[in-house]
Amino acid sequence: MTGDTKNSAEVVSVENLSISFTVEGRKLQVVEDLSFSIAKGEILALVGESGCGKTVSCLSLARLLPEPPASYDSGSIRFRASDGSPGENVLDMSPSRIREIRRRRLAYIFQEPSVSLNPVFTIYDQIAEVIGLRDTNDGNPEEEVASLLAQVGIPDPVSKMKCYPHELSGGMQQRAMIAMALAGKPDLLVADEPTTALDVTIQAQILDLISKIRRESSMSVLIVTHNLGIVSDMADSVIVMYAGHVVEKGPAPELISSPIHPYTRALLDAVPRFGCEPRKLSTIPGNVPSPSNYPRGCRFFGRCPLAESLGEAERAKCASSKPQLLGENGRFSRCHFSR
Ligand SMILES: Nc1ncnc2c1ncn2[C@@H]1O[C@H](COP(=O)(O)OP(=O)(O)O)[C@@H](O)[C@H]1O
Ligand SMILES: [Mg+2]
Repeated sequence: MTGDTKNSAEVVSVENLSISFTVEGRKLQVVEDLSFSIAKGEILALVGESGCGKTVSCLSLARLLPEPPASYDSGSIRFRASDGSPGENVLDMSPSRIREIRRRRLAYIFQEPSVSLNPVFTIYDQIAEVIGLRDTNDGNPEEEVASLLAQVGIPDPVSKMKCYPHELSGGMQQRAMIAMALAGKPDLLVADEPTTALDVTIQAQILDLISKIRRESSMSVLIVTHNLGIVSDMADSVIVMYAGHVVEKGPAPELISSPIHPYTRALLDAVPRFGCEPRKLSTIPGNVPSPSNYPRGCRFFGRCPLAESLGEAERAKCASSKPQLLGENGRFSRCHFSR
């Protein structure tokens, strides 16, 4: 991962991306200086509380934010071309090239299957349409749809593909949505909180399914979650976002076992651990600041347990000066004092 090491196998690379929304004549920056890349077959998790900019970041990859109110102020998003070159900046592309990226390079799955599945068409119709949009049209679409449904664990796929979405359970709708995403054979699957609306057993099954797909097809996955348990189970690397900034990034095992940023530590403290004595879950007091009044210095300052333990002069630095994302050996953190 990380835009800092050039990896020839990277599928997408985002550099210094900043995104604003203009709301009632006021321009608010909601994502600032975001950089990451995802290698072929890598699972990158994006974590952070609600409102930190995760969905906006995901949607920006395919220019899916409405422009206006959204605008891309700086940076680049590149999908590696088949000849190995870094690819054109999506922010400079014509509408027809953008549509091609959406069709061929990435697919989205969302929390609510109803965002992707159209209630008035059968599962077959919807998946066959995605197959039809692919460049080569080899084979029989009915067989291919049935095989995709089988691949995502839908029993009796030949009869299930004739169903309308409402005739399937929530978990089965989620699987059908994943089958539809896979039908386009994307390089990158973007899963924005794919399991938040599902019960725990189905959640685990869907996450297993995503891991299986990655293993079998070397598809890359960008998964948004605020569940750090999911991160340690399946992600290779992690980006922690807070108030539009990346505050920490690194390989998943190291980041989980030895978090650097006080915000990552606080998120981890809020996770229930299996096999441990039940304990009071700590939640992080306070709220994420809104983009209309981001603090001048560190955006986590007002809630930061580390800052509370610091002296006057150090706290003044937290309050007045914005920390940079710094690090080495693949570990990065945005804090003046935590190492
Ligand atoms: N269409 C929009 N217009 C104005 N502000 C928006 C719009 N969409 C998202 N935002 C703002 O962008 C910020 C990031 O939102 P989002 O990416 O949805 O957060 P997350 O997915 O991390 O919960 C929030 O402050 C949100 O209010
Ligand atoms: Mg979101």
